[in-house]
Amino acid sequence: MSALELYSLKTELLHAIAEASDLDKLEEVRIAALGKKGRISELMQALGSLPPDERKAYGQVVNSLKTSVGEALEARRRELARTATAEKLSQERADVTLPVPEGPLAEGRIHPVSQVTDEITEIFAAMGFAIAEGPDIETDFNNFTALNMPPEHPARQDHDTFYFAPAADGTRALLRTHTSPVQIRAMLKTKPPLRIIAPGRVYRCDSDQTHTPMFHQVEGLVIDEETHLGHLKWVLEEFCKAFFEIQEVKMRFRASHFPFTEPSMEVDIGYARDGDAIRIGEGDQWLEILGCGMVHPNVLKNVGLDPDRYQGFAFGLGIDRIAMLKYGMPDLRAFFAGDLRWLKHYGFPPLAIPTLAAGLS
Ligand code: PHE
Repeated sequence: MSALELYSLKTELLHAIAEASDLDKLEEVRIAALGKKGRISELMQALGSLPPDERKAYGQVVNSLKTSVGEALEARRRELARTATAEKLSQERADVTLPVPEGPLAEGRIHPVSQVTDEITEIFAAMGFAIAEGPDIETDFNNFTALNMPPEHPARQDHDTFYFAPAADGTRALLRTHTSPVQIRAMLKTKPPLRIIAPGRVYRCDSDQTHTPMFHQVEGLVIDEETHLGHLKWVLEEFCKAFFEIQEVKMRFRASHFPFTEPSMEVDIGYARDGDAIRIGEGDQWLEILGCGMVHPNVLKNVGLDPDRYQGFAFGLGIDRIAMLKYGMPDLRAFFAGDLRWLKHYGFPPLAIPTLAAGLS
């Protein structure tokens, strides 16, 4: 190929590159020039058949052609990529003031247990509680022993525990029977002051109209040097008022017994039944919603805290129960039956995120 021909090939290719209007067209130009059977590649292959004295000079010319075309391709590629991005951005600009198109949101529903868990979390977060978590499969130590229920303790029998097969060392893992083992995990992990809640699933081998083998609790724990029973009562009252969205709530603190608290109480909520509707804060019916008390000194000792210095309270609240009360759902078993009609009726729209400011429900 003569010098003139080479020159016009270069002009032609650079022109084609400048003209390529998008990345696909540019790629076609690249293949036609530098691809396996491209025109420059063919010139390179032809080099081999030239006499050695011509090969060098001609080789340099073809190489410099290859470099210029390569650089032009890269420059154009960058330019096209930039405009492609700019164009995409301008087309995909979102008007955030537009209403959200319902789409699947119109159909999907949040389960009342999830919604109520979010409501509870929101209220306690506003009181400065952090969220703690623990696994569903627990050790016997965390679920019982550390909570002042050593092996053979009679209170263990009340729990209808699901056990796993014993391990080689004789220990048996179990499905936690309450969220209280998260108290132990929290205290072992973090030094007081501690203020946590721990929502989650719990399991007991029990099933009837008001019991399912899996249900939900939220544990609360406050440990510092001066928290007392009055604080516990205040926190629970404030919680109930916020949760049921009423000014006055009727609560009954009954003396009770848990191995891990002393003193211990159970708390009932007063309500009236009006046909199918339930009115909280009125009437003379009572429903037990939680157990609570001051953390037992033995529990503090079991996690290496000095009971002469530290104290605090704990409570365990049945999430499913207060969901039934608040939203008037009569049968606990329906919660876990997976019936779409039930979920459509009692479920919540996905964007109805509970906040204290906007109203919980
Ligand atoms: N863990 C207890 C239960 O499941 C409830 C509870 C928690 C009681 C914390 C006192 C303190 O029945």
